[in-house]
Formats: sequence, structure tokens, C-alpha cells
Amino acid sequence: MPLRGLLLYLSEHPGLRRWVETSAIARRLSSRFIAGDTLDDALKVCLRIKSQGISATLDYLGENVRSLEEAAACRDMYLRALRAMKEAGIHPNVSLKLTQFGLDLDAEACEANVARLVDCAASIGGFVRIDMESSAYTSRTIDIATRLHERFGSCGTVIQAYLIRSAEDVENLNRRRVRVRLCKGAYLEPPTIAYPSKREVDQNYLRLADALLAQGEYPAIATHDPKMIAGVRERASEYCDASSRFEFQMLYGIRRDLQRRLVAQGYRLRLYIPFGEAWYPYFMRRLAERPANLLFLARGFWR
Ligand code: FDA
Repeated sequence: MPLRGLLLYLSEHPGLRRWVETSAIARRLSSRFIAGDTLDDALKVCLRIKSQGISATLDYLGENVRSLEEAAACRDMYLRALRAMKEAGIHPNVSLKLTQFGLDLDAEACEANVARLVDCAASIGGFVRIDMESSAYTSRTIDIATRLHERFGSCGTVIQAYLIRSAEDVENLNRRRVRVRLCKGAYLEPPTIAYPSKREVDQNYLRLADALLAQGEYPAIATHDPKMIAGVRERASEYCDASSRFEFQMLYGIRRDLQRRLVAQGYRLRLYIPFGEAWYPYFMRRLAERPANLLFLARGFWR
């Protein structure tokens, strides 16, 4: 199994997760990608990047909760996050995963939980992005995001360029004016439904970005790949108000050099800022994206 596959497999390993999440050294090393354990930690980061001209979306870490009580507690934390952002003068914008809101346990309860959040976001001029998880959840995520968008506005979702189905999904979401964040995709998927090579994923990414820039509702171009960014900038330059028709998005702690450059060139940039104690699966997906990060990890342990 290639290293990416192994790391993604281990990202779902409960024993390793328990061990890593309680290790003080691992916690310190993960701080490169995670804002901190608490909402306060995350708000400090939002304010810091705001002073650099960068917006934020907050992610309270957690996925695949095991009870509806846990799901309700996550929803309440997100409600607090939206209101706290508003009070701190930060545009209220959060990103969540449906399995954290109870999708595996009770789909109706899950949708009701997210509806409360989107309702709250709409009432304070905020926005809720429903992240995309593995392909087992794609259709359900798109359906829920579309329904909530139709009820409240203020809700969008994510499309993964590695999935073969994505061109059709983008077309449908564009028609319904649902806001899309385009990313490459971070899970382990079989070649029957996902492009297996980076070249094909990149080609599809640019095709989808094209469709979103031409017909989408304020798309978010989420990538750290300079080639994708250059392709999108070239396409966007065909529009006269190019830099306000879309935004770039990146993950906290990744390619800060590129982040600064885009902002200096006048592009809108939003950082995805994760916080909370359940950071293991998120951290492992970041390692899988760039196994060279393992060297950084090894150096940290050695020191
Ligand atoms: P690619 O993986 O080709 O990397 C390009 C370059 O970026 C690398 O050469 C390296 O320089 C840098 N880089 C990328 N990842 C790095 C890392 N972990 N550490 C250090 N450098 C790194 N996925 C998903 O399935 N569902 C979702 O909802 C989301 N949401 C999301 C939001 C935002 C704002 C972003 C930026 C990304 C996501 N993703 C996601 C993750 C996404 O699918 C993808 O796994 C990562 O963004 C990495 O892909 P890149 O487009 O950066 O390209």
C-alpha cells in the first residue's frame, strides 16, 4: 500500500488515535496545523489573520460521533463559535462535517442540527459550509446542503475533483445557486469512482474550476497547488471584476508564503482554521497529503 494509503488507513485507527491524541509531544507537533484546543485559541488566530487581510472559516474538530448527545454538543459549540465571531468583529463563517452532527445515527436529527446552525448564521449575516467526507456521504451531503440553502441561504458545500461524478454535481449545484468550495479530495477512494492519478485529478480540478468561475455562485478555490492557482488566475482574468467573483481558500499552517503573496496581489483569501481536542484524523490527512511532513514530525520527536 503506498504511503498515502497507509496514512489514510491509520487515520481511522482507534487505538493509534487514543495514543496519539493523549501524547503531549504529538499535540505540540500538530499545533502547526491546529489553532488550539479552545474556541478562544481559534478566535485569536482569526483576529491575527484578519489584521493581515485574510478571512477565516472555523472548524470544530470531530467526525463520526457515537451519540446524538455528542452531536448536539458539537452543534452548540458551533452556535457559540458563530456568535463569538460576530461579537469579535470577525465575519461569522464555519465549516462542519455531517458525521459530526449525527448523520450516521439519525439523518433527520442531523439535518435539524445543521438547520439550527444555518438559521443562526443567516440571522447574523454569516455562512455555513458543509465539508465533504468520503464518498459514502457525497449524495447525502449535497442533498442536505441544497435543502438548507433553499430554506435559509447562507449554506454551501464542497466538491472533490478526484471524484468522477463531480462534473455533474457542479452543474447541478451551479443551477441551484449553491456555493461550492472546490478541493482535490482527501480520502481513500477506489479507482472505480475516483481518478487514480494526480495528473487526472489536476486536469479535472481545472475543468471544474472553469465551470464554477463561469456559472457558479461565488466559488471558493481551495488548494495550495501553484499550478491550480495559476490556472484559475488566468481563467479569472477574463472577468473585469475578477478578484471579487471568487475567493481562494487554504488550510491553516500550510504554504504561508503563498498565502501572503496572494493577498499582496489583491486576491481574497480565507483560511480554514481547525480547533478542538479531536485532531487526530485531520492531522493524519494532512500528513497523507504530503508525506514529507513525516520528516518534520520525526525531527520534532527527535528534538
Ligand atoms: P496537492 O496535494 O497537489 O499539493 C500541492 C502543494 O501544496 C504541495 O506540493 C505542497 O507544497 C502543498 N501542500 C499540500 N498539502 C500539504 C500539507 N498537508 N502539508 C504541507 N504542504 C502541503 N478535502 C476534502 O476531501 N473535503 C473537504 O471538505 C476539504 N476541505 C478543504 C478546505 C480547504 C480550505 C482546503 C485548502 C482543503 C480542503 N480539503 C478538503 C483538502 C483537499 O482535498 C486536499 O487534500 C488538500 O488541499 C491538498 O491538496 P492541494 O490542492 O493543496 O494539492
